[in-house]
Amino acid sequence: MSETPQDSYGGYLGLDKLLDAQHTRTEADSELLFIVIHQSNELWFKLIIHELENAINALYGGRDLAAYKILARVHQIQLLLIRTWDVLSTLTPSEYRVFRDSVGRGGASGFQSAQNREIEFLLGEKARIRDFDTGSGGTKQADVIAMHANVDVRAKLEQRWRAPSIYDAAIDGLARSYPDAGITPRPRSGDYSAIAEPSEAIFDQWQAIYAEPDAHMAWFQLGERLVDLEDALRRWRWRHLTTVARVIGQSTGTGGSAGLRYLQKTAVDGMENFLYPELWQVRNEVFSA
Ligand code: HEM
Repeated sequence: MSETPQDSYGGYLGLDKLLDAQHTRTEADSELLFIVIHQSNELWFKLIIHELENAINALYGGRDLAAYKILARVHQIQLLLIRTWDVLSTLTPSEYRVFRDSVGRGGASGFQSAQNREIEFLLGEKARIRDFDTGSGGTKQADVIAMHANVDVRAKLEQRWRAPSIYDAAIDGLARSYPDAGITPRPRSGDYSAIAEPSEAIFDQWQAIYAEPDAHMAWFQLGERLVDLEDALRRWRWRHLTTVARVIGQSTGTGGSAGLRYLQKTAVDGMENFLYPELWQVRNEVFSA
């Protein structure tokens, strides 16, 4: 069997492996679409994780403008992922029905995406125990780390859960850039699994920045890039919800949840529980003045 030369286009990109990883389980025409959409999401998730790690390191290293540039890239990836829901929306209920049982055999679901949880943790969404509406009148408490059978996956998620999020790193940078603001960030090596209470000092500093953007352009831009991230996370969730509504209606999910009702709750929670509360509070203040 001939091998693709390492220095060729296909060799460098590992295309033999990559393009041999779409294993349909049925003859259904649309199953390839379903696999490719999920795989491409996971590939982009991998890049988002890499970029968010770099942005966090840049902020802790005092390279605030570098972080701003990286977050602009992350946001563009998020926008691209939101757009992929339009492609998946071309999947009709009858097309999906042909291969759904085979896909969901054994309870497979995006609920098990470890990279999605890593991104949530990196963005600052640290709720580890989730109320999982089972659809049969009950709610199960799902531990989104312990549910993974693979020890290495669990260890990685545990480490991410405890590590600083992008907002924790930004607050560290804010405290360094504005030493008189009275902000006392936790040390980087601390345990960040508990979500920090909204802080008056942090809010006051963002408010000062937003009151005079020209005088604080770097931090104003960083604030807006953080809002971009949270805004896009919300939009991704809503587009997931609206796509699921048109493909499976109100039927239960392959992962065992009530389906739409579970996703609806997650989407609404994301609108009510802020990842970057002080940055959203700044908006309220502008209009209450
Ligand atoms: C027709 C396509 C899809 C349907 C019908 C669908 C349905 C669902 C449902 C019902 C859930 C709730 C858990 C369950 O009971 O399974 C869920 C969760 C999830 N799905 Fe999808 N999904 C689809 C496509 C995708 C795609 C393309 C991705 C991208 C990776 C994805 C990622 C996720 C994630 C990350 C969760 C967990 C959400 C959370 O816990 O907040 N899904 N999906």
